[in-house]
Formats: sequence, C-alpha cells, structure tokens
Amino acid sequence: MSFDLILFGGTGDLVWRKIMPALFQAFRHGSLPAGGRIVGVARDDLSDDQYRALIKSRFDNVELAKRPSEEEFSRFAAMLGYLRMDLSNPADYAGLAARLQQRPADVVVMYVATAPSLFTVVCEQIAAAGLNGPQTRVVLEKPLGHDLASNRAINKTVRSVLSEQQIFRIDHYLGKPSVQNLFALRFGNSLFEPLWRRETIANIQITIAEDLGVEKRGAFYDNTGALRDMVQNHALQLLCAIGMEPPINSHADAIRDEKLKVLRSLKAWTPETLSQHVVRGQYAAGNIDGEAVPAYRDEKGVNPESTTETFVALRTEIANWRWAGVPFYIRTGKRLAGRDAHIEVNFRPAPHAIFKTSLAGSNVANRLVINLQPKDGLELHLLAQGADQRTGGRNTPSLAPVQLDLDFDKRFGSERVGAYERLLLDVIDGRLNLFVRSDEQEEAWRWVEPILDSWSSQASAPRPYAAGTWGPSAASAMIARDGYCWSEEC
Ligand code: BG6
Repeated sequence: MSFDLILFGGTGDLVWRKIMPALFQAFRHGSLPAGGRIVGVARDDLSDDQYRALIKSRFDNVELAKRPSEEEFSRFAAMLGYLRMDLSNPADYAGLAARLQQRPADVVVMYVATAPSLFTVVCEQIAAAGLNGPQTRVVLEKPLGHDLASNRAINKTVRSVLSEQQIFRIDHYLGKPSVQNLFALRFGNSLFEPLWRRETIANIQITIAEDLGVEKRGAFYDNTGALRDMVQNHALQLLCAIGMEPPINSHADAIRDEKLKVLRSLKAWTPETLSQHVVRGQYAAGNIDGEAVPAYRDEKGVNPESTTETFVALRTEIANWRWAGVPFYIRTGKRLAGRDAHIEVNFRPAPHAIFKTSLAGSNVANRLVINLQPKDGLELHLLAQGADQRTGGRNTPSLAPVQLDLDFDKRFGSERVGAYERLLLDVIDGRLNLFVRSDEQEEAWRWVEPILDSWSSQASAPRPYAAGTWGPSAASAMIARDGYCWSEEC
C-alpha cells in the first residue's frame, strides 16, 4: 500500500519532538508501509535536501537508542521531502495537489500539526483544492478549540468537507501501551468485572503528575492552563477507560459510544460542587531533584501576573447504575514532586472485621494500582497474615499489607511501540479505535466549561504551591472531606 503523509507545521516543535522520531521508529521496525512519502510543509524556503539535513540534525536530541545510524537515516530520508506553503494561500494548495498527483497514493494523510487557529483554514483549502477525496485522512492535534463554542466551530467546518471516518483527532494518551493495557485489563479478563462497581469500589483516583514546568511553551500554556491542556482530554479519556461499560466489540464506534455515555453521565456542576470539588493551583518557586526552579509567573512567555492554573484537582461522579455515589478524583499538574501517572482503584473495606488489628478494615487494604508512567504495570494490594505480634506474653495474629506487582516493561520489554508510532500507523491503516470522535470531544468541553466560567468570574487567583510538592494543600483537604487521601499521603 502506498501512502503520502503531509505534515503541515513541518518545521514545528511537534514534528521534531514526536512525529519524526515516531516515524523513524516505525521505519526501523519495518512497520511503515514501503513506498510511502513524507512531505514536511511550512513557510520556510527549503529544498528537500535542506529539510532532510534539518531533520537529521534534530535527531541529535533524541535518546541514543532511538537515533538512526548514517545508513539508516539515508534510507529513511529517501522517503522525506519538503514543500513551501503559505497555508492561507489557495495557490499553494494547487502546488500540493500537483505534487501529490505526480504519483497518486492509496492513502493520503494530512497531519495538521499547526496552531489550532489554522485547522479550519487548512481543511477548507484542502477541500477547495479537491484534496478531500475518499483516500484522504486528516489528523488534528489537540487542543481542538479553546472552549465548547470554538471546538464546535472547528468540528463543523471539518465535518463539512470530510466524513467522520476521515477525521483522526489525536489524544496521544490513548496511544500509550499502558493505556491500551488498561483496556486489556478490563475487557480481556473476567476477573475484575464483577468487582468493577459501586458495591465493591469505594473511590477511584486518577493522577497525572509531571515534574517538568512549561518548558518553551510558556506563551501557549499561559493561554491554555491545566484544565484545557490535560483534564479536558487526557484525564477524561482515562476516566472513560476506567468507567465505561464493556463495548460490544472492538470497533471504533462501539468503543466511542461507551466512552460518550460516561462523559454524558458525569455529574453536572452546581455552584456548591464548583466551590467544594475543584481546586486550582499555580506553582511558585521550589526545588526539583535538588535544583532550584523558578515560579510559573517567572517562566519565559508567561504573564508575570498570570492567573493560569498549572494544577487541578477535582472530584466528580459518574451518575449511572454502576457508579452512583462513587467519587472519582482527578489531579494533574506541572512541577509536582515527580513524573507519575497512575490510577488507583480503592476497594471497600471488609464488611466485618474479625482480625483485631489496626489494618483490618483500613481503606489502604485492597487497592488496584494501574501504573501508566514512568513504569507500566499493575499492583494489587492485599492483606496477608504476617508475623505474629507478641503482646503481654501472648501471640496475636496480625495482618500485614502485601502486594502483587506486575511490571509490563520487564515482561514485554520497554521497547514496545510508542504512542505516536502506534497512532501514526493506525491513521495509515485507517483504524479509528484510538482516536476521539467529535461528540466525545464536545461532551468533554461541555463538562469542563462551567469550571472555566466559574474561574473567570472569580476575583481570586489559583492557590500557590511550591514546585516539587504535590500541589496545594486544598487538594488534600478536598479528598479528606470524604474520608480518603491521595496515595502518597495514606
Ligand atoms: C500534552 C500536554 O498533551 O501532554 C503537555 O500538552 C504535557 O503539557 C504532555 O506535558 C504530557 O504527555 P506525557 O506523554 O509526557 O505524559
């Protein structure tokens, strides 16, 4: 099968950091169909060879094991080309069409890795140039819009020129092997399904912590914030994967229908829950790995009086028969104590304690931890009969916490297909399972919007937290009001 992959934003950050390294890995693994062409598109005046040289130089920043040798790069580079385009100029799309017609391909992927403000222009121009035929697939990066209205406007334009089957909305978390493992855990095994409900589960916690700050994206991030950057997409997709009903099969729409139902079932916000169940924070100066790091407001590109949140913790519920009353907590932030993404499923305590020990019935007893990163694995925390305790000359049986630990990196090797590699190959193959449908995305925006509105109407700023900590103490107070604690506090 021949393919053309057109990378709009071909000299941008995403192409250097994620897309090219992923394409090279797919090439190295022999999974990129032979006979493909990859064309970078940007405003710069570059020849094909200059573009290849630029890409080559950027591989110096990629970890050693994933860097091509001279020989590998020259074979990979044979697929690469470049086209100078002004994305708002219709004549330039005619040039693109001419280039594509030189050798018509079975599949044409248009990857729009540009600022979101260009999404609609690019899609309209692709259509005006007659490039939206059935072989065309368009990939749109997040964030798709800034709020519900802008998301709808983008979706409306894109849908007017392409069918939903041709639109691949990326949420790279869905491409992570660890997130696919979560689907495998739930829908490839029967063990947990009878327990996966309100009768047995006390609460679920989703943590996506980063120790990095905003890096070189200060200006972008300051206009975005953690709620739009992480919660509206990655965290809610994880919540869907945990909370959804088993789909009837593995087809994209069967999976997406179930995720949509979860999003539609999220409890609506009230003024009270907005004030009690949402905490926003912003990092102040602090220490990460023993090194002093600046406050968010002192980062390059950030407004010195910014009220953009770099941390969010919230509590919600999925209002349906399976989950009614079970709190789902989400927290995510930058410059936290470590890079750590995991989901904790906390089971209810034993209903009747026959062991006279302080651990019996404790909420730390039975816990399933799904580790997403940096390690990919599962921990099942149980209580076992430990060594007897001697008290007053008598032996008392005591329960001790133990855990079953499964490390998927050790079991399957850490060289598994990465998120972008998986997603790019899926686009070329036309598999939509790991991409987000427009109605899911809109529903997620609809749900976060009252939070955005309540923040914009408040005079107060986000709560400060020192870089290198787990966020503002209000996040601990929020979960403590339900009688629970975040994993590092229990
Ligand atoms: C991106 C966000 O979508 O996800 C970034 O825009 C964030 O701000 C990144 O750092 C986190 O991805 P990962 O794969 O490193 O957890």
